[in-house]
Amino acid sequence: MRIGILTGGGDCPGLNAVIRGVVQKGIKEYGHEFVGFRDGWKGPLEGLTMPLTLENTRDILPLGGTILGSSRTNPFKIDNGVERIKENLAAAGIDALIAIGGEDTLGVATKLDALGVKVIGVPKTIDNDLNNTDYTFGFDTSVNIAVEAIDRLHTTAQSHHRALIVEVMGRHAGWIALHSGMASSAACVLIPEVKFSLDKVCAYVNSCFEKGQAPIIVIAEGAIPQDGDMVIKDQTLDAFGHVKLSGIGEWLAQSVEAKTGHESRTVVLGHVQRGGTPSAFDRVLATRFGLMAITAASEGDWGKMVALHGTSIARVPLASATDKLKTVDPSLYAEAEVFFG
Ligand code: F6P
Repeated sequence: MRIGILTGGGDCPGLNAVIRGVVQKGIKEYGHEFVGFRDGWKGPLEGLTMPLTLENTRDILPLGGTILGSSRTNPFKIDNGVERIKENLAAAGIDALIAIGGEDTLGVATKLDALGVKVIGVPKTIDNDLNNTDYTFGFDTSVNIAVEAIDRLHTTAQSHHRALIVEVMGRHAGWIALHSGMASSAACVLIPEVKFSLDKVCAYVNSCFEKGQAPIIVIAEGAIPQDGDMVIKDQTLDAFGHVKLSGIGEWLAQSVEAKTGHESRTVVLGHVQRGGTPSAFDRVLATRFGLMAITAASEGDWGKMVALHGTSIARVPLASATDKLKTVDPSLYAEAEVFFG
């Protein structure tokens, strides 16, 4: 078979590990040929390709980002987008696609599958919010980056007797905030799933200072105050209708300082959380996803997404990945709350 591979949406560490797993096993065990489509769905839409071979995928396991490039292109928002993709796949002699992406990229893959394109999905996102997989790759690396940063922030916060508000990614799911906050003994973690009380946060801040501790508060970019709205960066939307977030950390720092009188500063981790080499966990998970994706394609098991269930790599219906977001369960959040303040 001649198989196309693309990576779409926000990049994350481990994308190249998937590509390597797919191509190396696909050529060595099955004798397939591979074509890389550049920049997410823009690649098949505009016929932008690059060769994928044993040689150019051999050494890419630890490489961050994606050798294919990525974008948030939505072919369903472009005139004749689906027809153009089908024509370009046919022109390049492509039998099937492996789409590596999150909610948006796999949402497009699901619709294309229903329209007759042979496709297998691989779940990626630092946000860990895709349904029907225990973890997505990229998440572990991102949490480790945040934890290293927060560990460092503890000492400077303590030296200056300041509260530090650390804003991490997570639009609708607080997985990164929850895990990084729990792993770094944050004084409080605020997630999009549970609207927060500013008074309660200020009480935690005061109680920390009373004990001689400088509090670190970890807040997801999509967290919402009980008496307010989500803070957005500007009014623009991407091709999938998402707003750009960031700003809630600064809002919280100013509010905490005004209400408690304790100096408060903000650190926005931003895209640092998506950059650089994958953790060992993500390298293994991404590789195993890649190996299973090419096995599924070789068996003609179209319309599936590879997924982590416990310690096994499973195949689940593509549609089940995106039919709802995997958000943080309140009971899990309650576990973390024991350590607040
Ligand atoms: O890929 C997911 C994500 O990292 C979100 O956590 C974040 O809100 C968004 O992407 C940022 O997107 P962009 O890179 O387009 O600014």
